[in-house]
Amino acid sequence: MLSSDVADQIAAGEVVERPASVVKELIENALDAGATTVDIDLEEGGRRLVRVSDDGMGMDRDDAQMALERHATSKIRTAADLVGVRSFGFRGEALSAISSVSRFSVTTATSDGAGTRVFASGGTLQEVADAARRRGTTVAVEDLFFNTPARARFLRGTRSEWRATSDVLQSIALARRDVRLRVTADGKEVMTLAPAGSLRDRVAVLWGAGAAGRFLDVDTVTGPIRVSGLAERPSDVGTASRRTALIVNGRAVRDHGLTRAAESAYRTALAAGLRPSFALEVELPGDAVDVNVHPAKAEVRFHDRWEVERAVERAVRRALGVLDSAALVGGGARIWHAPHGAATLPEALTSLPRSTDAPFFETGVDMDAVPDTGAIPVPPLLQLRRTYLLYEHDDGVVLIDQHSAHERVLYERFQQQMHSGGASSQRLLLPETVHLSPHDAESLEAHRDSFTRLGFELEAFGGHSVIVHAVPTIHRRFDALRCLRESLAALSGDRGATAHAGHELLVATIACKAAVKAGEPLAPDEMQALFRALVSTSLPAHDVHGRSGIIRLTWDELDRRFGRR
Ligand SMILES: Nc1ncnc2c1ncn2[C@@H]1O[C@H](COP(=O)(O)OP(=O)(O)OP(=O)(O)O)[C@@H](O)[C@H]1O
Ligand SMILES: [Mg+2]
Repeated sequence: MLSSDVADQIAAGEVVERPASVVKELIENALDAGATTVDIDLEEGGRRLVRVSDDGMGMDRDDAQMALERHATSKIRTAADLVGVRSFGFRGEALSAISSVSRFSVTTATSDGAGTRVFASGGTLQEVADAARRRGTTVAVEDLFFNTPARARFLRGTRSEWRATSDVLQSIALARRDVRLRVTADGKEVMTLAPAGSLRDRVAVLWGAGAAGRFLDVDTVTGPIRVSGLAERPSDVGTASRRTALIVNGRAVRDHGLTRAAESAYRTALAAGLRPSFALEVELPGDAVDVNVHPAKAEVRFHDRWEVERAVERAVRRALGVLDSAALVGGGARIWHAPHGAATLPEALTSLPRSTDAPFFETGVDMDAVPDTGAIPVPPLLQLRRTYLLYEHDDGVVLIDQHSAHERVLYERFQQQMHSGGASSQRLLLPETVHLSPHDAESLEAHRDSFTRLGFELEAFGGHSVIVHAVPTIHRRFDALRCLRESLAALSGDRGATAHAGHELLVATIACKAAVKAGEPLAPDEMQALFRALVSTSLPAHDVHGRSGIIRLTWDELDRRFGRR
């Protein structure tokens, strides 16, 4: 049988790892008590002292003594209360655990004036006395791990403990913007946060005003899940050090799945290796999330994780897309005014070959079958060097890379078809046999289903050959067999890719191979169809490799270069 002291010390190992965990537990208690101001004082990064004072509801004498006992919680009475619990604390474990490994005192009062002070050392109650203070509670934790030298040896230097503590403070500050927080370290004031109106305001104070300017607003409701907050503008990613914060139902959490979901919204908008900053809040019904899975409640479990990840990805993606589409048209695309009111378009435009039979962009899936595209104004477009499309915009001129643009359009269409299976395909009059290398045959087997969804009908034919019965109809110049071969080669070249990345790669490769190339002349209606389809994508300004597919030259910039200002 373990003595209760030892049992407490073991439990403490789970809750109290270092000063940062003490800071977290004490602030959370203050917030649960309804505090609007919390003062935090640290000495030696919290190793000497962590003191947290609040203006919350306080405790009476009995409660103050009881608070040190294990499983003393005023917050949960029955197991059912645990479902959807919104208070930070619910185990009644933190104070008993902390007090068992420190010199510990609580000074508390339920109304201004008469209060109580309780002092314990290494978990043993030493003193209960009268103490005057304003309504609220002060908990002081001194000499953490003084009685467990083995644990004390794991503490790092002041700087590194302070860094961990500062992470904790930041996440709490982001999650609870209604609260005023003041922090001193070794007597010096290091952080004072007034209550903030918005997440953006807090981010501006914590991460710098420059950082706040790099973020786009996120706010999307998917079913019962609301995802809001801030996501870094793709073009700014990598310009400053990366910061992330996730808040689930008001609680700062760490969650790889959600982090990955937010990152994958940027997929194809960032060059390889870049990772975005973000601060996201997820609100969902209390019974859809379980916070009681991690000793420090830093992780949560979702009943339907996939649904939550999808909501996060969708919300971020939407925020990024809004930026790009708005910048492209945003009511600012102008009708081209030919000089001297001439009714004709520039000659270069009219002299292009017109598409006759199968419209280049409209075989198979109708490009215009995207909601609202009718409302998108298409400015007159000029093709330059059979490579770029040029048009005039309120702020300047815009150049679109026709290949990148078409690639983006096809990429998103294929993505959709992968999920819905709605690709149109065409049966070949004479099936074609394609011979593959062993690697490529293996890749084909692994991605067979994806190829089928995209409109390829393939039949294995002994050895490493495959018979192609039907191919996707993408446009009239699309070479399906070449595309098949090149895609397989790209997939086998990337053997380490996970199934997921493989699927991305497949879609990106086919989009790339199928898209109109630089050097191909486009008729005006083809350019218009491409423009409309591009604006309707979620990330028009980025090609699928994360490079920019659009360049803007502002009037300001032109004026400067012409020496007009
Ligand atoms: N700052 C405070 N103001 C008012 N009451 C407090 C404060 N800190 C602690 N208490 C009381 O002491 C009890 C024990 O606190 P403790 O942190 O150990 O447990 P908890 O918060 O209920 O659960 P958990 O272990 O999950 O944090 C709380 O339930 C609360 O009633
Ligand atoms: Mg607590």
